[in-house]
Amino acid sequence: MILALSVIMLLFEAGVSSSSSGLENQIFQYIDLHQNEFIQTLKEWVAVESDSIQPERRQNVTQMVELTADRLRAMGATVELVKLCSHKPDVQSLLLPPLILAELGKDPQKPTVCFYGHVDVQPAKKEDGWKTDPYNLTEIDGNLYGRGATDNKGPVLAWINAVESFRALKLDTPVNHKFIIEGMEEAGSLGLEEIIKENQRFFSDVDYIVISDNLWLSNRKPALTYGTRGNICFSVEVQCGERDLHSGSFGGIIHEPMTDLIALLDSLVDTSGRILIPGVYDDVASLTEEEKKLYEAIEFDLEEYKNNTGVKKFLYDTKEEILSHLWRYPSLSIHGIEGAFHEPGIKTAIPAKVIGKFSIRQVPHMDISIVKRQVIKYLEDVFSKRNSPNKLKVSVPISAMPWVADINDPLYTAARTAIKTVFGQDPEMIRDGATIPIAQMLQNITRKSVMMLPIGAADDGEHSQKEKISRYNYIQGTKLFATLFLEIAKLHGQLQEASNTTTAN
Ligand SMILES: *[C@@H]1O[C@H](CO)[C@@H](O)[C@H](O)[C@H]1NC(C)=O
Ligand SMILES: *[C@@H]1O[C@H](CO)[C@@H](O)[C@H](O)[C@H]1NC(C)=O
Ligand SMILES: *[C@@H]1O[C@H](CO)[C@@H](O)[C@H](O)[C@H]1NC(C)=O
Ligand SMILES: *[C@@H]1O[C@H](CO)[C@@H](O)[C@H](O)[C@H]1NC(C)=O
Ligand SMILES: *[C@@H]1O[C@H](CO)[C@@H](O)[C@H](O)[C@H]1NC(C)=O
Repeated sequence: MILALSVIMLLFEAGVSSSSSGLENQIFQYIDLHQNEFIQTLKEWVAVESDSIQPERRQNVTQMVELTADRLRAMGATVELVKLCSHKPDVQSLLLPPLILAELGKDPQKPTVCFYGHVDVQPAKKEDGWKTDPYNLTEIDGNLYGRGATDNKGPVLAWINAVESFRALKLDTPVNHKFIIEGMEEAGSLGLEEIIKENQRFFSDVDYIVISDNLWLSNRKPALTYGTRGNICFSVEVQCGERDLHSGSFGGIIHEPMTDLIALLDSLVDTSGRILIPGVYDDVASLTEEEKKLYEAIEFDLEEYKNNTGVKKFLYDTKEEILSHLWRYPSLSIHGIEGAFHEPGIKTAIPAKVIGKFSIRQVPHMDISIVKRQVIKYLEDVFSKRNSPNKLKVSVPISAMPWVADINDPLYTAARTAIKTVFGQDPEMIRDGATIPIAQMLQNITRKSVMMLPIGAADDGEHSQKEKISRYNYIQGTKLFATLFLEIAKLHGQLQEASNTTTAN
């Protein structure tokens, strides 16, 4: 039965990739024929409970990193395990898993592609509501359910399978490979930035960086991601004294901190979602015609998206407005009030100190320090008009930069061609409204071109109790990566030729 399935997939593939070359077909056949082995390896990887959030599972994360290192070594890669514990020393630092820096191939004639991925996972327990054992990869109707299947063990293995396929077929690898694979991503990529900064030499001969750690926008259409929003988190503290007071004894005679804070928070956004802080939109990149066309081409079921949220009406009515406001315009969200009474029932206290929490998802080319200044000045102005004797303190506990790449970069051209070859359709060019610091971090420190190339579908349920990757996406994803190597090599040859011509002139 398994064999029959492979044959069907093979026939199906032969139809889709009629434009691919003999070399590609040879590789695709190999990948199709070995798909059950690739799934078996994914099963072995998923079985390791590499949950990086619970400290008692750290040993298992280390075990997972070592398993990955073994796999890379088996392909002939040189692997360096970099210790994380010298950075950010804390109680658990000794338990931190190492980070993998690996390389395979050093031909100066070939381009070098560096892949980033992670092999740690979010926590998962059967009791959380999983229908299957989260650490026993289970195939149901063509979907492979298990923790880490799509985030991010599946994509990491797909990349490794793709490299391995060239080796198994005794084909010359079209590119040199580098790998940066961590085990602390779900816990905030502890120590990663320092290691990248300290290992600039590792990146010096890298031409392109590829991350495959997000999802398509749809279930069927492949996508390429070229941007993410950043985030600036604000704390607004209003304090009247040291102790909470009784509203029977003090209500009506004091300036209450909560009333001040609510007024401050209420001054931030208007009913149309527009941020009211003066100057905050000044540096937002303007929408170009080219970009507008990208939005128009995207298939996006607004109604389904609305149904999934359970919200009756959005602030905008068209697909283009919704996507651009999620991806390329800033937004401000109010998240909570520390010190406020939030339990059921009634409590008639006046809190002495309350801290409002809100954040601004910022976009190119907003500058964190300028936005911070604008917000502080605005809140101080609003507060001063209230003639309140209370103390106001505004701070930014955490912030991360947005990221946007040039979609005309050769790396993106190569990926578009590879997607078209494998999936028979053009990718949707998408951004992510959330903050994924790794892309910006790698681009900023290494100055190389960075691309996010997802292989998982929109309904893969990262972090949820039904996380999966489909057999189709896992196997086609493997082919996609193999094709990407060939396309990059082709383009690189053309680029080199072009630059040789330029030099000659
Ligand atoms: C997790 O690590 C512990 C300690 O090394 C080991 O005994 C256990 O088998 C591991 N569990 C999994 C699922 O890998
Ligand atoms: C995983 O699930 C399969 C199918 O239900 C079962 O046969 C197998 O024993 C399970 N493996 C483990 C390690 O629990
Ligand atoms: C959204 O929900 C409405 C009401 O339940 C339903 O009629 C409609 O078919 C749903 N649309 C989609 C695309 O899911
Ligand atoms: C790179 O990062 C630094 C420090 O976070 C920041 O100040 C700088 O603006 C960034 N540069 C770019 C081009 O993103
Ligand atoms: C371009 O020039 C470099 C250095 O002179 C050379 O090694 C390379 O083979 C040339 N590439 C092509 C495609 O002509």
